[in-house]
Amino acid sequence: MVYLDNNATTPLDPQVAEKMAWFIREHFGNPSSLYPIGRQVKEFLTEAREQVAAALGAHRSEIIFTGSGTEADNFAIIGVLEARPEKKQFITSAIEHPAVLETARYLEKRGYLVHYLPVDRFGLVDLNYLESVISDETALVSVMMANNEIGTIQPLEEIIRLARRYGVPVHTDAVQAFGKMELNVRKLGVDLLTVSSHKIYGPKGVGALFIKKGTPILPFIHGGHQEFGLRAGTENTAGIVGFGEAARILQERWKKDKDRLEKLAEKLKTGLEEKIPNIIFNGHPEKRIKSTINFAYPGLEAEAILLALATREIYVSTGSACSEESEEASHVLLAIGLKPEIARSAIRMSLGRFNTDQDVETVLKEMPDIVARLRAISPFQPEV
Ligand SMILES: Cc1ncc(COP(=O)(O)O)c(C=O)c1O
Repeated sequence: MVYLDNNATTPLDPQVAEKMAWFIREHFGNPSSLYPIGRQVKEFLTEAREQVAAALGAHRSEIIFTGSGTEADNFAIIGVLEARPEKKQFITSAIEHPAVLETARYLEKRGYLVHYLPVDRFGLVDLNYLESVISDETALVSVMMANNEIGTIQPLEEIIRLARRYGVPVHTDAVQAFGKMELNVRKLGVDLLTVSSHKIYGPKGVGALFIKKGTPILPFIHGGHQEFGLRAGTENTAGIVGFGEAARILQERWKKDKDRLEKLAEKLKTGLEEKIPNIIFNGHPEKRIKSTINFAYPGLEAEAILLALATREIYVSTGSACSEESEEASHVLLAIGLKPEIARSAIRMSLGRFNTDQDVETVLKEMPDIVARLRAISPFQPEV
């Protein structure tokens, strides 16, 4: 099997799996219980909180565990807006993950004015547009750090600098950036930041929200006093312990992984460009998570390519999010200006810690043949 869909989810690191299996066998206590078996579990949660905080350059009191990256995004946006009820404007970008975009649509239905920042052909947000819409009425700006489909890295420092001038807090969805680039909440100066465990070789169903000390925010899930009273519900203890372990491992090796994966990805990208005529690269050539490679194959349907690759046990993604108006073309690829029929031909390959040279060679061997065969039977060969 060649797994090239690490932006969708990563395999569990064996060390994480081992720690979770041990924990789940040995520690069933409720961390809210006052007797020793509860207390011990509470200590494991604190350790995990410290591990995630350390990987982000935060303090453990600023980390709230959630049930997913999606929940952390919802919590950040709705929690901050509810804490500043007099401000009725929200700014985000046109290429966010649905976890943010759908929250924005929900807010629109609730009477908020939402500005969606447009992007250029590389996927970079328009800072002039931001400057023209931000005001004292803005409750929050939320712009993702790195895009999940094309990998483009946003100029967050500039966004934060601009927002500061208006006293507007900034949230960033860093789910795809965590572990793939330098990430330090203090250096960045961001107020809220989302991460997710299953993108860093940890278990699924656990996320975290960094909330800078002093940021006004209201709870999103109501109930008990867990997570400093900000996220009620008995904690997913084994998941959180696994997330902590994954964050610890990440700190040890992300830089080495990044250097290796960048070389591997470059080989894959140039190999595809050399071997397959008429393909269109999507994303920023430099300001990008390099292990994310997105190409459109004009004349083809991405799904056909995906299925043909799957029969050879190569797993990739179409990266397209369903949307009725665009007949399922990706909102990200449409936002960077691709025609819907070209956008529908795009395939994302995303490399991760467990990919090898051999994986890249296999893809470079199989892919040109698959594209040539599909093109031979495709009636539709558009002008690019
Ligand atoms: C950029 C981005 N944000 C948020 C999420 C959602 O995270 P989760 O799967 O933990 O809900 C994802 C997952 O694909 C993502 O890529």
